[in-house]
Parts: sequence; structure tokens; C-alpha cells
Amino acid sequence: MIDFHSHFLPGIDDGSDSIAVSLAMLEAWRSQGIEEIVATPHFYADHNSPERFLYRRNNSFESLKAAIFMSPELQTSLPSIRLGAEVRFFDGISRFEGLHELCLEGTDLLLLEMPFHTWTARMVDEVGMIASTTGIMPVAAHIERYLDQPHHLVKAFLNLDIFFQSNAEFFLEQGYTRKAMKMLKKGIITFLGSDAHNMSRRPVNIGPALGLITKTLGNDFVQDLANRQYDIIEQFSSDYF
Ligand SMILES: [Fe+2]
Repeated sequence: MIDFHSHFLPGIDDGSDSIAVSLAMLEAWRSQGIEEIVATPHFYADHNSPERFLYRRNNSFESLKAAIFMSPELQTSLPSIRLGAEVRFFDGISRFEGLHELCLEGTDLLLLEMPFHTWTARMVDEVGMIASTTGIMPVAAHIERYLDQPHHLVKAFLNLDIFFQSNAEFFLEQGYTRKAMKMLKKGIITFLGSDAHNMSRRPVNIGPALGLITKTLGNDFVQDLANRQYDIIEQFSSDYF
């Protein structure tokens, strides 16, 4: 299983604030049986250029790799790490030139974070434009956070031909589990993520969510979901054609 959304690279954005925390987070993923993690630091177009962001992400990843290299006890069954970004939506994003560089490395999949203020029809249309005009496939981050947006816009958004990610928390939080399971079972949610930032307030919690999903929907369902995730990543890999 892949954790598609995380902030564990050290010293970049509001994620892990030290290499020690990053290593502890990796240990948590390993103990939860996760095979692959996508590192998705925040990208805000008004604060950063893609070049600057990629430079900082790379430096952070290199320092983490050096620390992993120095920790042989961590290296057995360590999940593989892929680099990506959590890109906040902005007006004009469908025409933004640097978008492809922010996709999950080696693919055309883009983890897209929608705004938390009230949506407009134009915003939903523009996400559709990304999918239909750029060759990039959006994966909408933590879809559960937007379900109280205007109903007709949520409906239009969920009808877009894109993918949706939800956070482990959606499954674990009291009162939301049934809804989360329903959206997963219906195939609305394709990717899961911990959206982990640290070991305290926003920890690695995808393992407990997967445990609950397995208990509710069964082992085969979880295996099929993991296979579907890998199929999508292959289908949208940059050298697929
Ligand atoms: Fe996030």
C-alpha cells in the first residue's frame, strides 16, 4: 500500500522539523507495513517558484538519505520514497507552466489541494481543465475536508474525471467512519494518505486506518485497492506510451 500524502521531509514547509523526527516517522511507516510513501511538501505558487521548491525539496531529501545511510538498523524493509508535492489550487493553475515538474516524480499525477474558502463553479471548471488540457491528472487531496462546500459544486467536483485522495483520519474519526467506508467502497476514494507532519499532533496513522478498512471491507478489497493504485501510477507514468 502507498501512503500518497505526507510531510516528512525535514525542514521544508510545515512538515517534520528535524531529521530525527523524519527518521521516527519512517520507522512508524515501516512498522505499519507501508511499502511506499509519497513525500508531498506544500507548494504555494505565490510563495515559491517550482525551481526554488524543487531545489529545497532535493536538499531536504539528500540530507534525509544521508541520515538513513548512517542508520543501518532502519534500512531493512524501509518503505520506498517517491517525491511529489501538494500543490495548492490558484486561479490560472491550468495554464501554469511549471505544473508538470510538481507531479509525482516519473508520472503525470498531481496532488492538488483545493482552497478551504467557499468554492466557485469556475474553480471546479479549472480543475477539469487541468485534466482535459494539460496531460496532467489531478489527485484531489483530502477530499473529506471539502464535503461541506456548496452541494452542487461538490457533486460537480466528484463527477470530474480525476482521482480523489482521503486522509487516514477520515476513517478513524468518530462519526465519519461509515461515510469514509462508503466513499471508498463506491470507488470515489482511490488513494489514501496519512498527511502526517510529525510524531505528535499529526502522526503516521495510515496503519490503523488500513486495519479498520480491512476489518470492514476485507483483505481482498484492500489488496484490490493497492493493485488499483499501482495500476494508476503505471498508467500515468511519463514513459507509458
Ligand atoms: Fe498535506
